[in-house]
Amino acid sequence: MTARSKLVAANWKMNGNRADNERWLQQFRAQAPSCAVVVCPPYVYLSQVVQALAGTGCGIGAQNVSERPAGAWTGEVAAEMLVDCAVGWVIVGHSERRAFYNESNEVVARKAARAIEAGLRPIVCVGETLQEREQGRTQQVVAAQLEAVLQLCPAGQLLPGAIAYEPVWAIGTGRTASPEQAQEVHRAIRGQLAARDAEAAAAMRLLYGGSVKPANAAELFSQTDIDGGLIGGASLVAADFLAICAAAAH
Ligand code: PGA
Repeated sequence: MTARSKLVAANWKMNGNRADNERWLQQFRAQAPSCAVVVCPPYVYLSQVVQALAGTGCGIGAQNVSERPAGAWTGEVAAEMLVDCAVGWVIVGHSERRAFYNESNEVVARKAARAIEAGLRPIVCVGETLQEREQGRTQQVVAAQLEAVLQLCPAGQLLPGAIAYEPVWAIGTGRTASPEQAQEVHRAIRGQLAARDAEAAAAMRLLYGGSVKPANAAELFSQTDIDGGLIGGASLVAADFLAICAAAAH
């Protein structure tokens, strides 16, 4: 048995509009899942989601944050601004940010540190590409990504947040890591945390992400070290997201 309660986070990515969001939020409110939930819309819809989910206990997260404090950084959003807008969480180091916006392990670590400093809970994403997995480098790549973050943010400070293992080859591809493949990496992540801080390691939520769907969620979430999920595509359909939350609630 584990004391960690499950957490399911919706990563809408760059999707949505006010009308569709409203329909999603109405459906979501009508069912009120019994596991912890974080909804991460694009920046411009954060206030809409904050308002719609006020009083539900649901967390609201951004999908990115600047690694710098407020100042002359056109187009960026500071961690304090998110806090000011009642946003409690932020995804950092998503593989799409790493791959398409050149975010290095060091930049991701700085973003996580800024988030913590401002009082946000980071969801730190790690994961290997297909090529790295085929080269047998999965553990090495994931460990280096996590290590960079731990250099700036001790595990105890990361704790209110979560770490998401998202194999790049499983994101949006329909190809899910098997529960055993995911568990193997999750166990290694927890081991890496435990080497520094056993208590924080035992309490840290480790989420799996990559083509999680209502049909495969329960099996993934039943693994010892999988404490919930970061859901992309399937989070855009409220009924599917709610079904995934229900799988986490068991
Ligand atoms: P997916 O995305 O569920 O569409 O694979 C997950 C993610 O990128 O967070």
